[in-house]
Amino acid sequence: MSAQVKATISFSDGTPSAEFPVYKGTMGPDVVDIRKLYGQTGKFTFDPGFLSTASCESRITYIDGDKGELLYRGYPIEQLAENCDYLETCYLLLNGELPNPAQKADFVGRVTNHTMVHEQMTRFFQGFRRDAHPMAVLVGCVGALSAFYHDSLDINNPEHRFISAIRLIAKMPTLVAMAYKYSAGQPFMYPRNDLSYSGNFLRMMFGTPCADYVANPVLERALDRILILHADHEQNASTSTVRLAGSSGANPFACIAAGIATLWGPAHGGANEACLVMLDDIQKQGGVAKLGEFIAKVKDKNSDVKLMGFGHRVYKNYDPRAKLMRETCHEVLAELGLHDDPLFKLAMALEKVALEDEYFVSRKLYPNVDFYSGIVQKAMGIPVDMFTCIFALARTVGWIAQWTEMISDADQKIGRPRQLFNGATPRNVTPIAKR
Ligand code: SDX
Repeated sequence: MSAQVKATISFSDGTPSAEFPVYKGTMGPDVVDIRKLYGQTGKFTFDPGFLSTASCESRITYIDGDKGELLYRGYPIEQLAENCDYLETCYLLLNGELPNPAQKADFVGRVTNHTMVHEQMTRFFQGFRRDAHPMAVLVGCVGALSAFYHDSLDINNPEHRFISAIRLIAKMPTLVAMAYKYSAGQPFMYPRNDLSYSGNFLRMMFGTPCADYVANPVLERALDRILILHADHEQNASTSTVRLAGSSGANPFACIAAGIATLWGPAHGGANEACLVMLDDIQKQGGVAKLGEFIAKVKDKNSDVKLMGFGHRVYKNYDPRAKLMRETCHEVLAELGLHDDPLFKLAMALEKVALEDEYFVSRKLYPNVDFYSGIVQKAMGIPVDMFTCIFALARTVGWIAQWTEMISDADQKIGRPRQLFNGATPRNVTPIAKR
């Protein structure tokens, strides 16, 4: 990175001013390189929540929150959702270019031949209660995967990194479906090599040994679009977790497990589940007739009630994924004849209110991808507590691509933020006999 511009910071407390290089990216805000700030001034920056902090240099995904733009390796998400499938998108995120037919066939073949998990993995499930939250199961099982691949955990070996990426992308659908089957008390379904990635997942979720299962092509395409739209999203909370875990040299399975744990939160990937729980609560309290009361609670700061599935840290315009997810939502509701279902009518009424209400408009709180992806998954018969597992399934490729980019960066160091300390100053311990 070369700097044509310099930033000077001066202090009113006599600390000597200091000059820092300013770098320009190919798109997006410039950055001030403050790596030498502490050494030159003895001061830290302070940015809880990283509202103004770039944690890394990346070439993978770009978001313009004001324009509502999302690009994977320079390709607009709208074009990828229209022209590609999820595994093509995985290839793009990992390699930087879309595959040609031969490259796609090779990549699909590699993923397909790694979809089974070690048979011993089934024993991990037995240790969980049937009503365990599937995200708890997924965090545990993905972390445990590293126990099976001692032959390929050298993160500095590109071949080990590649096979770990293939294994994670290939096995996530199998593990997610196993978590669902275990909770439903149904037998695990083995993956099939003659089905598409999304078709395989739907069969492992909804198929049983008692009858053949053929996925509805509209639902198969809808799921594939959900996976594409959730594949990566810059340095969000879970991706930042994966990068931080990876910076210590932890193996990729452990890092992805850390990402899954972070995604679970309702402010992040858990929002689609929280959104459906919110809709269900409103429905139980009287549905559309009670919307006004609910919205009043959301506006009341003391209520701590949020409109789940709305708002975003970066998108202060419409989430481009939400637009695409909304289309898919209506396709699926039409295919399944659910447009008149009360819950979905309530969701559309809530969307209308939020898009017209000054409180939300002034705070730029638009429906995000989670609002519509929750509705689509509910319509497809996917249990609400499985939604975030499917988000994790989709985001695994993004986490892996970002982790690989970080590991391959010669300048990367272990992440170790500092703090503004406001605790007790040094004092002496009084022995307990005198306390
Ligand atoms: C994802 O980062 C990513 O890229 C994440 C993600 C990805 O792909 O990885 O896009 C996936 O996590 C999408 C977001 C899913 N989360 C939700 O839908 C949960 C509900 N949304 C909120 O929790 C919230 O909007 C956040 C956390 C998403 C963003 O919060 P910010 O940007 O930190 O904004 P804020 O909390 O400072 O809110 C600004 C104002 C505040 O009001 P004022 O203090 O200005 O009066 O808006 C209000 C907030 O109270 N507000 C909301 C609200 N979100 C913000 N009020 C009601 N309902 C909401 N959902």
